Amino acid sequence: MDESAGLTARTGSPSTRRRLRQAWVFAVNFIKHPRMVGTFAVSSPALVRRLLDGVDWSNRRRVVEFGPGVGTITGAVLDAMAPEARLLAIEMNTDFVRELALRFPDPRLEIVNASAADLEGELAARQWADTDLVISGIPFSTMPAYVRDGILDAVAQSLAPEGEFRVYQYANHVLEPLRARFAVVERETEWRNLVPVRLFRCRQPLIGTGETERSAPSS
Ligand SMILES: C[S@@+](CC[C@H](N)C(=O)[O-])C[C@H]1O[C@@H](n2cnc3c(N)ncnc32)[C@H](O)[C@@H]1O
Repeated sequence: MDESAGLTARTGSPSTRRRLRQAWVFAVNFIKHPRMVGTFAVSSPALVRRLLDGVDWSNRRRVVEFGPGVGTITGAVLDAMAPEARLLAIEMNTDFVRELALRFPDPRLEIVNASAADLEGELAARQWADTDLVISGIPFSTMPAYVRDGILDAVAQSLAPEGEFRVYQYANHVLEPLRARFAVVERETEWRNLVPVRLFRCRQPLIGTGETERSAPSS
């Protein structure tokens, strides 16, 4: 099935057609899997800029992205990343994985059709001892608390001492679980998006220091 074919044949330049196609694939998958995809439209340019603002790319060699969708943030990360850096994109949705592979023939990018819950195994398979930056747009509020907690534990355990976890969400639910795992959690809101978004910048994981407090599983 490719209902987008008729639409793209009638519209503008190749880049406009590509953007329309990506928006279409994203919206269709939101209708099919609303809890997994979480929102109707891809992230706005303002959100992408804010999410990546201030990242020191000179020391971000092992980067992970959870839930790249059709690659709205992935493209900006690849544009900014050093030539020797690597990006591991973990996406559950097969349509998005196909779209990403077509869109980014970049040897620095590896796309895995898996869940963020598989982070530990995916890192071990690549012999990544740690990560420098993990970016996440997966909808933590629609998944069971034990899955969310497992993912957050795995991120905290994987981060290098100077590493950073950047999260965007449409709700504040994830704040306390983040605070239970990171000594520093900075919050902000980006209003210039279809739906206003919460951003969280997390550093200094508490895992393994004996300081970690677990949050209530229902939050
Ligand atoms: C809100 S969309 C974000 C898409 C894209 N990053 C953007 O900013 O436009 C959430 C994405 O997370 C993916 N996703 C949801 N749960 C996931 C999980 N447990 N592991 C990996 N990807 C997941 C969805 O398929 C979707 O692509």
